[in-house]
Amino acid sequence: MAILVTGGAGYIGSHVVKELLDNGEEVLVLDNLETGHKEAVLGGKLFIGDLRDEKFLTDLFRKNDIEGVIHFAASSLVGESMKNPYKYYENNVYGTLCLLKQMVAHRVHKIVFSSTAATYGDPVEIPIKEDHPTNPTNTYGETKLAMENMFKWFSRIHHIDYISLRYFNAAGADQSGRIGEWHEPETHLIPNILRAALNKDTVKIFGDDYPTRDGTCIRDYIHVTDLAEAHILAFDYLRRGKGSNIFNLGSQNGFTVKEVIETAQLVLGKEIKAEVAPRREGDPAVLIASSERIKEELGWQPKYSHMETIIDTAWNFIKKHPNGYS
Ligand code: UFG
Repeated sequence: MAILVTGGAGYIGSHVVKELLDNGEEVLVLDNLETGHKEAVLGGKLFIGDLRDEKFLTDLFRKNDIEGVIHFAASSLVGESMKNPYKYYENNVYGTLCLLKQMVAHRVHKIVFSSTAATYGDPVEIPIKEDHPTNPTNTYGETKLAMENMFKWFSRIHHIDYISLRYFNAAGADQSGRIGEWHEPETHLIPNILRAALNKDTVKIFGDDYPTRDGTCIRDYIHVTDLAEAHILAFDYLRRGKGSNIFNLGSQNGFTVKEVIETAQLVLGKEIKAEVAPRREGDPAVLIASSERIKEELGWQPKYSHMETIIDTAWNFIKKHPNGYS
């Protein structure tokens, strides 16, 4: 039986596909390639299409023996979600509803879901545990929370077991340098720093007047290979019939924007120009995860999430793909 990975041509999805293949799993990838790259899919069978295309999705479920789903397919830009909420509800919430319809119809009862720290909103307690209140401050986080809640009810009513993985700041690239992070436009800090280094450009620091040790925002960066490993463990948890759960995925270490830039200068051995720009709307000062629950329940241990390793692997990918996958 196969595992269906929706959004498997995207940044995190492609790393999970590689990890599944390395574990000898049969993998089906569904991606509409709106933001994904077919070159990032290193194996398995790729189906190019959209969750919202009922005929396409029904065919896929009818013609394949699907054991469970790992669900990434979604729009995931916070800024865009505050300009175009329709797109986020339609693609994320309605798209997931279409997927659940097929899962119920074809008796597929396992799903691992790509969720986000954005479901919490502004933290009232650091580190953030899974029982922290969920008050998203943007449409993206709100749609991911809505998707989580859909799983909760489909789980109760249709016995679909789900694991929701709430990622903090995913970063880095596979050790091989074959796959990595490439978005157009890029909004994330680490690829922006590395692109600035590559193109002799200047990276912007969004605000240096936050109540933190150097005035810049603190985030919890987690290596994408550690994230991928967590998906394998989560799917295994479902296979063992352990039921549904929600887990944070972070390293439990906080880095300021300036510290990330300083580490990048050390790893690359070159100066990276940076300038302070106004705050970006909606950025909380500090986001750090407690990942105790997944360590206890799944025995997950991050192995690659030192900032040096994150930057080194991301740089390796960018040097090999200075123009992305094109
Ligand atoms: N930043 C800069 N300059 C840049 C890009 C980012 O200073 O060029 C800063 C941001 O202001 C923020 C930090 O670097 O303080 C990290 O920003 P990212 O855009 O890399 O990541 P976010 O923390 O904003 O976003 C991440 C995930 C989102 C998720 C969010 C939850 O990428 O998917 O956490 O709050 F929604």
